[in-house]
Amino acid sequence: MTTLLGSNEGSNAGNGKTGSRTGTKIVAHRGASGLYPELTFAAFDAALRMDIHGIECDVRLTRDGKVVVFHDPVLGRTSDGAGRVSATDYADLRRLNVGTAENPQRIMRLEELLELMQDYPDKHIYIETKHPTRYGPEIDEQTLRLLAYAGLRHSERVHLISFSHRAMRYFTHFAPELETYYLFRLREKKWNRGNCMLSRPYGVGPALSHLRARRQLLGFKGLKTYTWTVNDPKDMLWCRDNGVDVFATDMPHIAVETFARADVGGSTLR
Ligand code: G3P
Ligand code: CA
Repeated sequence: MTTLLGSNEGSNAGNGKTGSRTGTKIVAHRGASGLYPELTFAAFDAALRMDIHGIECDVRLTRDGKVVVFHDPVLGRTSDGAGRVSATDYADLRRLNVGTAENPQRIMRLEELLELMQDYPDKHIYIETKHPTRYGPEIDEQTLRLLAYAGLRHSERVHLISFSHRAMRYFTHFAPELETYYLFRLREKKWNRGNCMLSRPYGVGPALSHLRARRQLLGFKGLKTYTWTVNDPKDMLWCRDNGVDVFATDMPHIAVETFARADVGGSTLR
């Protein structure tokens, strides 16, 4: 059986092939979230103006079935509200501030973010559907529907990522032309002890710590490699020098600077 932990099959680690030194793509994790409050218009707009590949975002369903750009299942950490996103209607979420007192920001709907993407036709978006079990595939269905409304349903600029094999299977079946990445962390071994591949994604998305501990995941079975969250310049250069295809960072501005310096002086930090 194919697993993500127990096989060296397809590995390119340690065989001298490091992939393209310049091909590693930079994605702004939750927008430029090291500079602005995460998943806000301010964070996305700043990131999209940078010389990077694109942005990453998380999406969830509200009680009344709207798709909002929000990471946590609950409101407390990043807004002035409380309670569960899934138990709150969109109209009530819209009143909350997810920015700062000086620069208030509203929770975005996915369609608003896709509209912003139209202003940046060279940029890519990595959409992570968050999966409370009780919702089944509804968040995935809604996401594909909104992509269709935005004219992005078949776009190579759109990538769908998830910790759910069920979501991977759904997207592979209903949107086979869109790239998918299966995300995983070590702790998922609790429910999938062998970390078996229960879907056929386009690529795998191990957490950075997982990837650095298990180099055989690089190019696993010929799949592309996306990793997160890469905030240290040394790790950024490690990704680049080892042929990671895409990494997500809260610090896209630091990544751009790090790569520019390395291009001039080689892959060392000076
Ligand atoms: O880009 C993948 C990464 O965002 C997954 O973790 O918890 O930050 O959504 P999380
Ligand atoms: Ca995410």
